[in-house]
Amino acid sequence: MRWWMAALVVGAQLVVGTMVGPDAAAAAEVTTLREAAAARGLQVGSAVSASALETDPAYRDRVAAEFNTVTTENEFKWSVLEPVRGRYDFSRADRIVDFAAAHGQAVRGQTLVWHSSLPEWLTTGTFSQAELRDILRNHVQTVVSRYRGRVAVWDVVNEPLAEDGTPRDGFWLSRLGLGYLADAFHWARAVDPAAQLYLNEYSTETNAAKARGLYELVRDLRARGVPVDGVGFQTHKLLTSRLSALGDVLRRFADLGLDVAITELDVRVPVPADATELAQQAEVYAWAAQACLAVPRCRSITTWGFTDARSWIPAQYPGWGAATLLDESLGAKPAYRRLLAVLRDWQRPGTGPVAWWRLDDWGGTTASDASGSGHSAVVSGTTLGWYERQPTTFALRGDGAGTGAVTAGPVVDTARSYAVSAWVSLTSKTARRVVASQDGAARSAFTLSYEPSTDRWVFAVPLADSVQAGVRTVSSTSVPAVNRWTHLTAVWNAGWGRMQLYVDGVLEMTAPPSGQPPATGWTGRGPFRIGRSSAGEAFAGGISDVRVFARVVDAAEAAALADAAVGRWTFDGHTGDESWFSRDGFPRPEQVGFTADRAGRPARALLLTGTEVIDVRGGMTLWTDRSYTVTAWVRLTDANRDGRPDGAGDQVVASQDGRERGTFQLQYESDNGRWAYKVPVTDSGPTGWPTVESLAPAVAGRWTHLAAVWNAGWGRFQLYVDGVLQGTSAATTSPPATGGLHVGVSMTGGRLTGALDDVQVHQRALQPHEITTLATP
Ligand code: G3I
Repeated sequence: MRWWMAALVVGAQLVVGTMVGPDAAAAAEVTTLREAAAARGLQVGSAVSASALETDPAYRDRVAAEFNTVTTENEFKWSVLEPVRGRYDFSRADRIVDFAAAHGQAVRGQTLVWHSSLPEWLTTGTFSQAELRDILRNHVQTVVSRYRGRVAVWDVVNEPLAEDGTPRDGFWLSRLGLGYLADAFHWARAVDPAAQLYLNEYSTETNAAKARGLYELVRDLRARGVPVDGVGFQTHKLLTSRLSALGDVLRRFADLGLDVAITELDVRVPVPADATELAQQAEVYAWAAQACLAVPRCRSITTWGFTDARSWIPAQYPGWGAATLLDESLGAKPAYRRLLAVLRDWQRPGTGPVAWWRLDDWGGTTASDASGSGHSAVVSGTTLGWYERQPTTFALRGDGAGTGAVTAGPVVDTARSYAVSAWVSLTSKTARRVVASQDGAARSAFTLSYEPSTDRWVFAVPLADSVQAGVRTVSSTSVPAVNRWTHLTAVWNAGWGRMQLYVDGVLEMTAPPSGQPPATGWTGRGPFRIGRSSAGEAFAGGISDVRVFARVVDAAEAAALADAAVGRWTFDGHTGDESWFSRDGFPRPEQVGFTADRAGRPARALLLTGTEVIDVRGGMTLWTDRSYTVTAWVRLTDANRDGRPDGAGDQVVASQDGRERGTFQLQYESDNGRWAYKVPVTDSGPTGWPTVESLAPAVAGRWTHLAAVWNAGWGRFQLYVDGVLQGTSAATTSPPATGGLHVGVSMTGGRLTGALDDVQVHQRALQPHEITTLATP
């Protein structure tokens, strides 16, 4: 027992109707990362340097105090261990391993197999393939066996992938073929069966293609019996990174039965860093830690160095630095305090969903529970496949006959208050189509479904768990649309004795009506089903983002759950996407600044000086041949005395790539000084640009709200300025996008100089009143 825990127990035993002693209260204060992490059964660590441990007592003391795991920053790299063939020098690695043992710390050994930091004799030597394989096996066996029982975790293979997620064409792949990966893990396991064997990679936190490639790789290795125990996510980030998708990525790998870890976290900042930047940096550390804490199989958070005095960043990225938790004199930076607070205080949101199936799982057979409650659902007779809630997003697709997804047991007590929400897209109205249900003994304790006899969405609760019992229902007033993503929220309010049904975030009906006695529910003790009821009634179409709450959801929350934005960049000091889709923006160049927003709050809007732009990578953001809306707050820089922006050229607010040009441009038009929404007739070859312009010239220096709406059904596009319709085009087509979205530029240029805030994209034509709401300052 830790001393402070013992003190608490003693203190508690002494309390007999009196206050706990002041000593106990002081002792309960957690003051180091290590204490905070250990209390959660988590490891927190840093990469450390053998020479710093040897020469710098303050460094040494801090490593001992703060961390319960350490990683060798360079000491296990092959070029360090065996600079001359056959002559291993383990002295530096030993220094770290011995230090860790003396201080009760686990060691992560980095790394056994890497394309980099190889000794010259190896990279320049001439070896046959068989010889090279022997050399590699000998190296793995020599190192792992020497540290058997002393190195707890090996990064067996480091950075095996290219940016597109395919195997990296590096030293080992080019000479040994892909088999080197499996070999290395088998060799390591054979000599130290107790060591945890990891594959370590970078950029997979945010690069979806690379993360997917890594997922397929480790899934394949595991399927072939290769002993991969865990996956490390290096997490070298910028202060503008949001890490929106990291929790989901970690969860997907954990669902493969793997441990995961954050292995090399640091957050580089242009130097000198100011207070605002250090505060922003602290948030990135916090996001990383929260993502790990939300995933039970995330075992450790390791930073790549802990003091700015010894970080790898300044040497590798001139002009950047300040990437770690402590300053050069080992003083705590905001990042340190934030990480400590998160490790100490973070709690799974108690009011969050008790089950949350995003249904975008890569594996396709298990719908994992993003709430952290472990209610994964097994998918059979149905596919978790490509379904068109959005490009690049998966959903459960029911064909009207499948068995949907089913959990092992009940998710919610249906006799008490609960709520179920989901996005659905119905493809067939010929039968009852159940979105979600939970089994009782004889029938479902509730169903949320499409009802063909009334042509409505229906939330139904039988009066008892018997097939003869009547059913209490609440129905939509709107007629369900076919092939349109619609959001449903069903609420059972046990205290009030009422059921409610929301469609697209709007309450459509409450039952029983006021004046009638309250409804009472009963507990269904069977499994939860997505896409069918206990009686079948399989859904036809797509289901996505199903959430279950063990409480009432109110009108404001139902509206928020129905948020239809497919991208939202608030630029609150970062370039992350705050929509469900987690498509973080990447600044180009990496350094980007922030300025006050329209309410004067500092660092809450993106500052563009004519050189920076934001790219949204990872596939298409919008299908531009379908209805969509793009909105943004923009403030152009004033350069002319007449108050109009200077005519340096067109300045693009947002655009999405087609083949040779953007498939739309929302922009400032330099030749007449107006706002414009332009859609080319075609995205390659000669074209015209049907355009809707603002009625008045753009005013520089003033925050202005723009909204571009393409209504595919109607075949028209429209521009709104400050919530007021400016015009409607006669054009009737919009070319399909083939690439990503850009903010502050198009693929053919037109950089914006000014400030941008709250850029939103929606895969539908927003209504005028919705645009008015967004345009309200
Ligand atoms: O120690 C020698 C010194 O004697 C010599 O004078 C000097 C001249 O260049 O080099 C020193 O070695 C350098 C070593 O860092 C120690 O500072 C190497 O050149 C340099 O290549 C090495 O860089 C390391 C890099 O990996 C390559 O191995 C960084 O410290 C280390 O932080 C970095 O760590 C990697 C992870 O292993 C994998 N993930 C990415 C991460 C950052 O690049």
